[in-house]
Amino acid sequence: MQTVGTVAALRRIVGEWRRNGSTIALVPTMGNLHAGHMRLMEGAKQQADRVVVSVFVNPTQFVAGEDFDAYPRTPEQDQRKLREAGVDLLFLPEVAELYPADPATMTFLEVPELSGDLCGRFRPGHFRGVLTVVCKLFNQVQPDVALFGEKDYQQLTVIRRMVADLDLPLRIVGVPTVREPNGLALSSRNAYLTAAETENAALLYASLREAAEAVRRGRNDFDQIEAEGLSRLRLGGFRPDYFAVRCRDHLATPKPSASDLMILAAAWLGRARLIDNIAVDR
Ligand code: PAF
Repeated sequence: MQTVGTVAALRRIVGEWRRNGSTIALVPTMGNLHAGHMRLMEGAKQQADRVVVSVFVNPTQFVAGEDFDAYPRTPEQDQRKLREAGVDLLFLPEVAELYPADPATMTFLEVPELSGDLCGRFRPGHFRGVLTVVCKLFNQVQPDVALFGEKDYQQLTVIRRMVADLDLPLRIVGVPTVREPNGLALSSRNAYLTAAETENAALLYASLREAAEAVRRGRNDFDQIEAEGLSRLRLGGFRPDYFAVRCRDHLATPKPSASDLMILAAAWLGRARLIDNIAVDR
């Protein structure tokens, strides 16, 4: 595996692969890689001849007061895992490489219809930072395909929308969430949980499953289902941001007869803000 820190070096290597006829998959990450990320790498190897992984803790997607400085950074460990996983190229830039200009004065991307809702409501400006860095990475690597985890379902949805709206020439593939045995979705932010909180955190997915089961059995009083989810989380010691039943495609509020649904939740437990979701067909 080669490791580069500059866009110029990245372009040189990827350009040569492309001239040789290879297809390229990109997995953008913020590092501190866990089994959920490694599932993305496995998927990437099935999708293309060459796999590029970026590890970059993107400052523009952290809202004021969030954990940018504290976000776990484990570059040596990440490098070892990526090498073992057979990744071809690691792009590990410094902040100044991706943001040579002051971010306050530069161009940003936004999907207004989706960016201010759900997580965007509680993290204003977050998706603007995600979309901008992801679009920059797409332009730098020019991959045929890019892979993202379904745990961050709203992120996956806004990225798909950006790709469609801007005619970006690549495919986006969503990869299923990897979970602890108790159901907790793997996330770098789980490191903020104490041992007791990690056990208790199983309630987030359990509440989503319960709501999904109710919808599957025919309930369509979605407001009530959301209220029950919020109250279950509060009783379990969480401080929920939202618990929402949405259309799966565009995350709009569903009509009672809607069939392809997604239930999404975000809630704080101790120092950790956890997000998760579950798809419901009926
Ligand atoms: O999901 C993440 O880790 C980040 O939001 C991403 C997509 C790498 C952009 O910084």
